[in-house]
Amino acid sequence: MEVKTFGVIGAGQMGNGIAQVAAMSGLQVIMNDIKDEFVQRGLNNIKKILARNVDKGKMSQEEMDAVLGRIKTSVDLKDMAAADYVVEAATENEPIKFQIFRDLDAICPEHAILATNTSSIPIGRIASQTKRPEKVIGMHFMNPVPVMKLVEVIRGLATSDETFKITWGLAEKFGKTPAEAQDYPGFIANRILMPMINEAVYCLYHGVGTREDIDTVMKLGMNHPMGPLALADLIGLDTCLAIMETLYQGFCDSKYRPCPLLRKYVEAGWLGRKTGRGFYEYS
Ligand code: CAA
Repeated sequence: MEVKTFGVIGAGQMGNGIAQVAAMSGLQVIMNDIKDEFVQRGLNNIKKILARNVDKGKMSQEEMDAVLGRIKTSVDLKDMAAADYVVEAATENEPIKFQIFRDLDAICPEHAILATNTSSIPIGRIASQTKRPEKVIGMHFMNPVPVMKLVEVIRGLATSDETFKITWGLAEKFGKTPAEAQDYPGFIANRILMPMINEAVYCLYHGVGTREDIDTVMKLGMNHPMGPLALADLIGLDTCLAIMETLYQGFCDSKYRPCPLLRKYVEAGWLGRKTGRGFYEYS
C-alpha cells in the first residue's frame, strides 16, 4: 500500500508539527480540528516556522509555497475518507480518542491505517474501538516535532507486520529515526521522562530547590537541553499530569503517583507555555 494522502487529527502543537513534516516529505496532507480557529492557528504556526527556514536560507520561498500547497485544512472528520493513513494527535483524553477512532473507522477507506500519537494510552485499548485492530498503531512524535529526531513506534497485540512496516517507513520518510516500544503504559519515552519531570516537581514541592536551581542542575549537571520544569511547561502540565495518571493507574504502582503540586497547577489553569503560565511565566 502506497501512502499518498496523510490525515492529521488535531492542529495543536503536535498535530501541526506532524502535518508540517508530512507535507515537507511530499505527501498530500489533510489537517483537521474541531474548529476553524484551531486549524488556522495550526496553519499559521507552520507558516511561521517555514518562513523562519526561508529567512535562514534553509528553504526557498518556492519550496515553502509548495509545502503549504500540499496542506488542506478541514473541520469535518468525513474529509478523512480521502486519507490512506491518519495520525490522531488530539488531546490526551481516553474518551475523546476512543470516539475519534470509532468515527475514523466508519469514515476511512478499508485500506487506511489509523495511527495514534498518544503519549501513554495503550494502543490495544484504542485499537479495540475499531473493526480494524490490525491497522491501528502508535506513532509517537516528540515536541517540537520539526526538530526532534525520534518517532516511537508501538504495535498493539493485533497490529499487522504490514502496518508496522509502513509506519516505520513513513517515520524515515519524514527524516526521523524510529524506535520500537512495546505496548505498556508510557511506552519507553514517557515511562522514563515523566517520572523525572514529576520528581522535579516534587523537589519544588518539598522546597529542595527553586525552579531555577532545579532546572540549572539538570541542564548543566546532566547536559539536558532544558531543565525538567521548563520542559514540562513546553509539553503542557495537563499532558504531564494525564501521562502520570496513566502510568499510576496502568501499573497500579505508587511510584508513579502525580505530585500534588502538578495537579494544583493544572487545576488553576497554569498549563505551561500555552496558557502563558506554568512553572515559569511567558509573555
Ligand atoms: N518548532 C520548530 N522549530 C523549533 C521550535 C519549534 N517549536 N523550537 C525551536 N526550534 C528550532 C529553532 O528554530 C532552531 O533551528 P535552527 O537550528 O535551524 O536555527 C533549533 O530548533 C534550535 O532552537 P533554539 O536555538 O531556539 O533553542 P535550543 O537550541 O534551546 O533548542 C529545543 C530548543 C529544540 C526545544 C531544545 O531545548 C530541546 O531539545 N529541548 C528538549 C525537548 C524535548 O525533550 N522534547 C521531548 C518532549 S517529550 C514529548 O514530546 C513526548 C510526550 O509524549 C510528552
